[in-house]
Amino acid sequence: MWKKWFGKSSDVFHTPGLNLIKRESVPRHIAIIMDGNGRWAQRKGLLRTFGHRAGVESLRDIVKAASELGVKVLTAYAFSTENWKRPDEEVNFLMSLFSEYLDSEIDELHQNDVQIKFIGKIDELAVTLQHKIENAQARTLHNGGLILNLAVNYGGRAEITRAVQIITEKVATGALKPEEITDNTIQDHLYTAALPDPDLLIRPSGDLRISNFLLWQSAYAEFWFTDINWPDFKPKHLIQAIIDYQKRDRRFGGVNKDGAHRFK
Ligand code: FPP
Repeated sequence: MWKKWFGKSSDVFHTPGLNLIKRESVPRHIAIIMDGNGRWAQRKGLLRTFGHRAGVESLRDIVKAASELGVKVLTAYAFSTENWKRPDEEVNFLMSLFSEYLDSEIDELHQNDVQIKFIGKIDELAVTLQHKIENAQARTLHNGGLILNLAVNYGGRAEITRAVQIITEKVATGALKPEEITDNTIQDHLYTAALPDPDLLIRPSGDLRISNFLLWQSAYAEFWFTDINWPDFKPKHLIQAIIDYQKRDRRFGGVNKDGAHRFK
């Protein structure tokens, strides 16, 4: 059976296409770039901040749907290390929104067994927000349901740079030899060390790029793009992305299920 949330469920169970998903191969880790909030609002003649509020509604629905579908990890890109370049007003609004989101959602997420994690340079955020993040992580640490991994002040390059700094420090102290460094060493020093790599990476809003998101981890992720802006992204779009994902032939550099390589 699909797992149902207590309280108001997402509309995922009433969505045409649900029966087309193969339950045994639902992606373990889905990563989403929550893009297009500002453009969504501007098209309606509203301030960009309205779009971010609407984006939180989408996040709420997609978290429920992902949990109900049995996804293990959902990583949502909420603010990049480059997003500080946005106008101060928008940045301040977003920081308040993250804080508000934690206040309003934590109880329901916790009751539904969701583990909340954050990745990124959290120590550069306002101290009050840092405390809320620490509390949310600590409170939900032992939950065994969906891992909701929120990327805030996150950059893939900064993450790899940080890993290199920690590793070279270990080499300098003699705790590690250069020849002992493998792919796994790098992996183990990323924010996502304990998590599987994303299987499916979704970017709404029409841009076809990854914008510094999970650079190392996405080496073999399947990409799914749509023109729909994030506030219009519904469980039915998540279902469609999963159906399309399940039709892909993931070879990881090897051969496909029938033993034939497409280019040979
Ligand atoms: C990357 O594109 C997109 C993101 C880091 C997500 C941005 C989303 C928000 C700021 C809204 C937060 C979400 C909620 C639900 C409040 P980019 O615009 O940073 O990069 P680009 O310049 O390459 O497009």
